[in-house]
Amino acid sequence: MYGRSSTFGMKKLIVGNWKLYINTSTEGKKLIHDIDKKLPRGLKVEVVLCPQVSLAPLLKSTYGGKRMSFGTQDVFFEESGAHTGQVSPKSLVTSGIKYVIVGHAERRAEGDTDDIVAKKAVTAIQAKLHPIVCVGEPVRDTEGAYLTYLSNNVTSSLARINAVDASKFTIAYDPLWAIGAPQAPSPRVVAEAVMFIRKTIADMWGRERALKVRIIYGGSVNTESATLFATTPGIQGLLAGRASVNAEEFTNIIRAFQK
Ligand code: PGA
Repeated sequence: MYGRSSTFGMKKLIVGNWKLYINTSTEGKKLIHDIDKKLPRGLKVEVVLCPQVSLAPLLKSTYGGKRMSFGTQDVFFEESGAHTGQVSPKSLVTSGIKYVIVGHAERRAEGDTDDIVAKKAVTAIQAKLHPIVCVGEPVRDTEGAYLTYLSNNVTSSLARINAVDASKFTIAYDPLWAIGAPQAPSPRVVAEAVMFIRKTIADMWGRERALKVRIIYGGSVNTESATLFATTPGIQGLLAGRASVNAEEFTNIIRAFQK
């Protein structure tokens, strides 16, 4: 029901979350150049690079190509006002940034609640940014408590988004326990969680709307696991951390999803 048919007509998305791995524009430019050189011809997937916010606009403006888009790793939920140290969605949009990661497990660990994530996601959509809303349980258990956590996490993180905007954001199933791990979980474990997330959205918005939401996976992906994930029904792209700052690995991941 929520298998292959849901992927029809929707581009796969490969996101590079550079975290604080790239900290100068020189390093960033070199990485972009190296990735661009290795991108497959006839690119069929959407590729988004997410440097830290202080570098993203500059790197976007110096990138001569058109095949990759730029995002960043967080955004604030107010457009303007007395909010020292925050980044407004509008400032990103006007710098050519198209995507923004919100609710990454590393941001949630520093205080982002579901409601903050929900506000960030909806403000981003209103500003015409495409949010990549990260969800996922911090730990797994054998009694299935993680499923209750996950459905609440999805429902509350999307609570402020209007169902008609189902195609204007992406969900990343990006569970804390799988991030920075020695290896990614099996495609089966991920596929089940993705199916569960889609079912949770269907319970909120109905099946038709739920099928419009793109769901990707993040957590220790590399060349080998990308090959497996690319052929797993329901997984519509990947979010890479460590592998995204290695041009060879990142373009291998992209290539896996070209098929
Ligand atoms: P990782 O990071 O690929 O280095 O595990 C993934 C993530 O932050 O989602």
